[in-house]
Amino acid sequence: MTCTPGLKRVHTPYPANPSGVILRTDNNTNTLNTSADKRIAVMEHVTEYLDDLFSFIRRSPTAYHATASAADHLAQHGFQRLDEAVSWCGLPPGPYYVVRNDASLIAFTLSSEPQAGLPMRMAGAHTDSPGLKIKPNPIQMHHGYIQLGVEMYGGLLLAPWFDRNLSIAGRVTWACGTAPVRCSLIDFKRAAAVIPSLAIHLDREANEKRHIDKQTDLVPVIMLTDGASPPDFNEIIRKELASQYPEAATATILASDLFLYDLQPPCRAGLNSELVTAPRLDNLLSCHALLRAMTASADNRNRLIVLNNHEEIGSLSMAGAQGPFLRSVLQRLYPDPDLLQRVIARSLFISVDNAHAVHPNFAAKHDPDHPVGLNQGPVIKFNAAQRYATDAITAGLFRQLCTMADIPCQEFVMRNDMISGSTIGPLTAAEIGVPTVDVGAPQLAMHSIRETIGHLDGWYLLKVMTTFFGAEDSHIHCPEPGL
Ligand code: CO
Repeated sequence: MTCTPGLKRVHTPYPANPSGVILRTDNNTNTLNTSADKRIAVMEHVTEYLDDLFSFIRRSPTAYHATASAADHLAQHGFQRLDEAVSWCGLPPGPYYVVRNDASLIAFTLSSEPQAGLPMRMAGAHTDSPGLKIKPNPIQMHHGYIQLGVEMYGGLLLAPWFDRNLSIAGRVTWACGTAPVRCSLIDFKRAAAVIPSLAIHLDREANEKRHIDKQTDLVPVIMLTDGASPPDFNEIIRKELASQYPEAATATILASDLFLYDLQPPCRAGLNSELVTAPRLDNLLSCHALLRAMTASADNRNRLIVLNNHEEIGSLSMAGAQGPFLRSVLQRLYPDPDLLQRVIARSLFISVDNAHAVHPNFAAKHDPDHPVGLNQGPVIKFNAAQRYATDAITAGLFRQLCTMADIPCQEFVMRNDMISGSTIGPLTAAEIGVPTVDVGAPQLAMHSIRETIGHLDGWYLLKVMTTFFGAEDSHIHCPEPGL
């Protein structure tokens, strides 16, 4: 039977040297004379890398926007979009990507026909970040203020949300009359809301024991009332939608997935600019590194990245890591179950999500023998209860990749008297049975509205992921003892 591959869009053929931004990760400094010259050359690469990361974060206020940014990047580099609703039978070798539910994405390159059964270099990260999600009927009127009811999305730190310039972004479904439903991404891109703190004069114990009530204390203010009836929130959305999509001028808003986000852009910080502060570094930093490594690598290896939504709320969804997305893509690439199992058994999955660096003011929260520092390279995460999927085999493979990439790496393990976090690594390993290592760039203030990293760690991560995607088969697999 002849099948037409389900290409959603036709882009330019996969170029040998894709045009567009290629981030330089090679030190290639051997011809330079002094260590100072080498340091300057590396710093130029790092500055280029950080500019690109900042641009990606600014364009990605929500998981939907992050996925759209990722899709744009892949399309610019010759990846062809596939439609899940169309047959993929007979897919020729090349680079492809597929999006599920607007907020999860899988991209892969096939270097040869799938029947060859070559191993797949796989890596994953998550597109979502903790935040405030706007309720379906959000408008509230209190004491002359118009406010928006919000839900908590994921395990966010609440206190940093006060006194910020907040904007609104997400996706909206709409229709004109009885026409078919459409879905669009919107971004207000302005300070549309604020959650003012309560003055210390009205709560003298604020610095000792202020409790934040999730239902009543975090309700953003969007405007003052004019004494008239409350505004229609859907009308506010419709106007914003029409400003971005003129064809929606007469639309009826049907439903929305909208989030608040901090408008403050990413920036370098510290007297010597060795720090970076930015929103959503967990886990856009990792998504960015995987995407750039994917498009910077030569096309002679099978490789795959999965960027999942819903990690911050447990990953159990149609597009989350505990759902069937990755398995279904692999099953379509390798319809023969025996072939699929052979490929998986020879593959490696690197789960990439940020890790906790030691906070200088709270160092007692960390295992004293496993200090994690900023600018000291990717962190390999261990947990005896498999909250992280790492084991000696996969950690050894990753450590060797770091050696090959000429970057440092470090280890994290949670204190025994604290509960370990987790990520998509163990879920993916359990779903498809692939050897997996959990790693990530070190950071401070995880799940704050503004997080802190070192300026080198994302670049180190990009280097090792580029090395991974170009590695020989023998470097992603470790034979059993004695073999
Ligand atoms: Co994360």
